[in-house]
Amino acid sequence: MSLRRRTLLKVIVLGDSGVGKTSLMNQYVHKKFSQQYKATIGADFVTKELQIDDKLVTLQVWDTAGQERFQSLGVAFYRGSDCCVLVYGVNVMRSFETLDNWHEEFLKQASPPNPRKFPFILLGNKIDIDGGNSRVVSEKKAKDWCASKGNIPYFETSAKEDFNVDEAFICIAKTALANE
Ligand code: GTP
Ligand code: MG
Repeated sequence: MSLRRRTLLKVIVLGDSGVGKTSLMNQYVHKKFSQQYKATIGADFVTKELQIDDKLVTLQVWDTAGQERFQSLGVAFYRGSDCCVLVYGVNVMRSFETLDNWHEEFLKQASPPNPRKFPFILLGNKIDIDGGNSRVVSEKKAKDWCASKGNIPYFETSAKEDFNVDEAFICIAKTALANE
């Protein structure tokens, strides 16, 4: 491979507490899953190197606290993001209903140069749960929401069963790269 400058892509993951943001990142980066819930406090990032076409990129993925009282770093780190990943749990209606707030808040705080074109990706996580019987948000509902926000790409994932996690993050990296 030729020596090229490595591109750093900053990605931020937002969504309600308990939807599986940390779990998705752990599955993607470490191939690990834990049933135990440990709330994220503040924000932290992990990095992963990957190749997109002929480009080497370093994906810097920022995990954030869904619980308001742990959002201690405020929102300063929203700035400079190349892509924003929104996560909800398919088994919790409230986590879907708050997507509008997360979306709006991100744009407000990050104030990207072209908000209408800023790339988001939506993940509907926990599709494994209870064999799908506890699902309360339909795929159609999620896709309609994505369409209403200017065709946001949508993936249904399971951090537990490692379903669609790599695929989602590859799309995230490609989208971030296109926006970089
Ligand atoms: P905050 O840090 O509070 O914002 O929460 P979070 O979004 O990071 O959620 P976290 O990844 O900590 O997951 C919350 C709980 O859901 C944990 O008990 C996980 O084991 C569980 N969980 C996460 N993803 C999945 C999934 O895909 N399927 C199932 N069945 N459980 C999951
Ligand atoms: Mg977390």
